[in-house]
Amino acid sequence: METNRLSPTIQAALNAQMTNEAHNAQIYLAYASWASEKGYDGIANFLFRHANEERNHMQKFLEYILKRGGKVTITAIPAPGPDPVSMNDCFEKVFASEVENTTKIYDIVNTSMAEKDWATFNFMQWFVKEQTEEETLALDLLDKIKVAGGANAKDDALFVLNTELGKTPDDATLAQDVTVEKP
Ligand code: FEO
Repeated sequence: METNRLSPTIQAALNAQMTNEAHNAQIYLAYASWASEKGYDGIANFLFRHANEERNHMQKFLEYILKRGGKVTITAIPAPGPDPVSMNDCFEKVFASEVENTTKIYDIVNTSMAEKDWATFNFMQWFVKEQTEEETLALDLLDKIKVAGGANAKDDALFVLNTELGKTPDDATLAQDVTVEKP
């Protein structure tokens, strides 16, 4: 008896997105480490916390695939790419990466709609909302760096930004506390 409630196309797309979320976590980890090496520990902490959120997203996809009787396929995670060349570049790359992720999320929404897989369509709505928040957060970072001088941001302005981001509340949940219902 067939117990897998995911079509092969949807299952492959969800598995690919699970790996994309792990890739996003690697990107935030790489940028956080880069910021820390540069002495911007507040910004680094902010980025480290966000890496945790991306791992939670990965976990959420994994749990949904299992919940629907599907097969989880764990693969290698692509490398995050080169380090940013400046804080401005770092925040621009964060924004670009989130926009790219939104496109991938929308692709799965489109496929689930085309296949009339309303369970997956419903599941994906959480990510549609989350991506709106993540893009807003990335845009906010870009605004802050623009105020600090953009590509020409001076050390003292970056110091203020570093202090401010270091105080941002930690809204990331630990991966072991994450469930599909409570991401
Ligand atoms: Fe999981 Fe930043 O998107």
